[in-house]
Amino acid sequence: MATYKNFIAVRKIWRFLTIYGVGKTLFKVFGRIRPSYLTAGSKRIRDIGVIGCGQFAYATIGYSIWRKYGNRFLACYDVNKGNQDSFAAFFGITCAAKSAADVITDGRVNVVYIASNHASHAEYAIEALQAGKIVYVEKPVSVSFLQFSRLAEVCSHSRERIYAGYNRPFSGAVRALRKEVGSRNKPMTLNCFVSGHMIETDHWYRKPEEGTRICGNVGHWLDLAVHMLSWGELPDCWKIIVSYSNDVSRDDDVAISLTSERGDLVNIVLTARSEPFEGINETINFQQCDVIAKIDDFRSMTLWKGPSVRRFNYRPKDVGHNLAIIQPFSGIHREWKEVEMSTLLMLFIADMVVNAEHFSEFSFSYQMARLLK
Ligand SMILES: NC(=O)c1ccc[n+]([C@@H]2O[C@H](COP(=O)([O-])OP(=O)(O)OC[C@H]3O[C@@H](n4cnc5c(N)ncnc54)[C@H](O)[C@@H]3O)[C@@H](O)[C@H]2O)c1
Repeated sequence: MATYKNFIAVRKIWRFLTIYGVGKTLFKVFGRIRPSYLTAGSKRIRDIGVIGCGQFAYATIGYSIWRKYGNRFLACYDVNKGNQDSFAAFFGITCAAKSAADVITDGRVNVVYIASNHASHAEYAIEALQAGKIVYVEKPVSVSFLQFSRLAEVCSHSRERIYAGYNRPFSGAVRALRKEVGSRNKPMTLNCFVSGHMIETDHWYRKPEEGTRICGNVGHWLDLAVHMLSWGELPDCWKIIVSYSNDVSRDDDVAISLTSERGDLVNIVLTARSEPFEGINETINFQQCDVIAKIDDFRSMTLWKGPSVRRFNYRPKDVGHNLAIIQPFSGIHREWKEVEMSTLLMLFIADMVVNAEHFSEFSFSYQMARLLK
């Protein structure tokens, strides 16, 4: 049994090396085994604080910052002391934070990265913004309307200091597509088929207060849709249909269709019937006017424009993490307004799923007015 497990682990690492390249794969492995004998090296500038030192913070935020700027991590906190200590050891962090507030109020920390459980994101972001920090908050930025309205209020005074972890808009494929599409005010069709992780029944993602997999996962493709729709003028009024494959775990195998008053059609299918060996897998199809694109798991894209056809390859796979994560430093960032719009839509659909609703109507302007009331 142990031999078989080792064989599978080696096979997975080999596959990840071919998909993600050496650096990212090593960080993924380190994030899992947390070696006490390795460090990410030292750096003169250290100004980043991290809240939530789990796999994403270690392997993805850690790697994206490290590859571009070196080891700039200064402080970290996690409710799980083992995760905090192993993160601190690898990134050479010497100050032992006893709370998130220790990280947020540390005068040497300029940027706070929040990668903790979903329910805690908004409150940490509010505290960090109020302390005058630059904030990078992982998705979802909120799990409830009330939480989001408090965050929106604080953000209205500090929009230029907050960045979200929605990364698909930063992928090579979506950026290349955007160049071809430009900003046409014409209906588009977007279809996202996602083979997601199988999540155990007792995983923290499933706790009611964490906002369902709509907040935890589907938010990515709702955000991608809002991003692409915002290349032109974002249509205000939408009809939403949600189809559940079963009543027990409504957010596991689910189809969401949205149609706008302009004739846009967005369809998102999340399926999680088995664990995808290479991690989450996405097939994205797009059409607007004479542009058609097929994005295959952010590893390649075929793009047709009228009679011309182009093929793009992304090795390593480029789902946009690197550019999204360095937003606070790079000067390349999303408009916060887009994140607000996609979060409003996500929270609305999460409510539909909680209440087992099949049909509803949604208006961005109405929800935004409610938010800012
Ligand atoms: N952008 C992406 O593509 C992407 C991919 C994976 C995960 N994520 C996000 O990253 C975040 C972390 O996910 P993960 O996969 O690393 O999960 P994880 O379970 O590995 O890590 C979460 C960490 O947060 C800690 N934590 C829990 N509650 C906390 C609290 N109140 N304060 C401080 N720390 C707390 C946990 O102890 C754990 O170490 C989530 O928001 C997740 O949605 C984003």
